[in-house]
Amino acid sequence: MSCFRKDAGISEEELLAVVEKLNQDPDIDGFIVQLPLPDHLDEHKITLAIDPSKDVDGFHPVNIGRMALGLPCYLPATPCGIVQMLSRYDIPTSGKEVVVIGRSNIVGTPISILLSRKDKVGNATVTLCHSRTTDLLEHTRRADIIIASVGRPNTVTADMVKEGVVIIDVGINRVEDSEAAKGYRLVGDVDFEGVSAKASYITPVPGGVGQMTVVSLLMNTFSASKREIYG
Ligand SMILES: NC(=O)c1ccc[n+]([C@@H]2O[C@H](COP(=O)([O-])OP(=O)(O)OC[C@H]3O[C@@H](n4cnc5c(N)ncnc54)[C@H](OP(=O)(O)O)[C@@H]3O)[C@@H](O)[C@H]2O)c1
Repeated sequence: MSCFRKDAGISEEELLAVVEKLNQDPDIDGFIVQLPLPDHLDEHKITLAIDPSKDVDGFHPVNIGRMALGLPCYLPATPCGIVQMLSRYDIPTSGKEVVVIGRSNIVGTPISILLSRKDKVGNATVTLCHSRTTDLLEHTRRADIIIASVGRPNTVTADMVKEGVVIIDVGINRVEDSEAAKGYRLVGDVDFEGVSAKASYITPVPGGVGQMTVVSLLMNTFSASKREIYG
């Protein structure tokens, strides 16, 4: 395993050259370009340059397209980890009301597609909420499963959820904490204390979705090494 650290001032041409070198290297099974990129670099251009068969992040349009069609592909790591958690804890999704908060390309949008697909973990009725959603409460209160990926603490509070709800908290936020060694602690998008009293399942932050994201990335890389998807 290798990590190529580049200066934040790297030019687009230089970064594209690194990507191309990795694409061509037969000893490299898969790789990711850690996002977000500095503002002067075009994220889409870089993602498009990655060979889809080595795109273990699952962000290339070929993999996203295959995911939407239910074809074999590398699933984006965080949504893949969420699907794994729902599967391994035997949490039913078929016919359930799922409310996803946040529509990012890496979490909200792909997980909304995955859970609405005709699949073992799927067949849900999915509502995708975002900053223009007029009445978030109306959606969250009827949700059987809530997936929050916003990046704002306390986006979901106890009054917004029904008894027995399943909560997947994706958000990672730093909040000041003078008692913590670093001066801050990490919290999710959900008020864990309040909501856990009503939830049947709730993922902690840290120690929940983040861990599963890492595992999923390793699963995709293992699959790439076996040439399971693209031969
Ligand atoms: N645990 C993990 O492995 C993992 C992985 C990825 C991300 N994260 C964390 O998850 C959080 C979200 O990241 P992301 O990349 O998915 O999203 P993002 O690109 O940061 O976008 C945030 C999303 O939240 C929506 N939003 C903002 N305010 C809202 C509000 N008041 N009500 C409803 N929706 C609102 C935005 O709507 P608009 O589209 O309308 O702007 C947008 O779709 C961050 O804290 C990030 O660090 C964690």
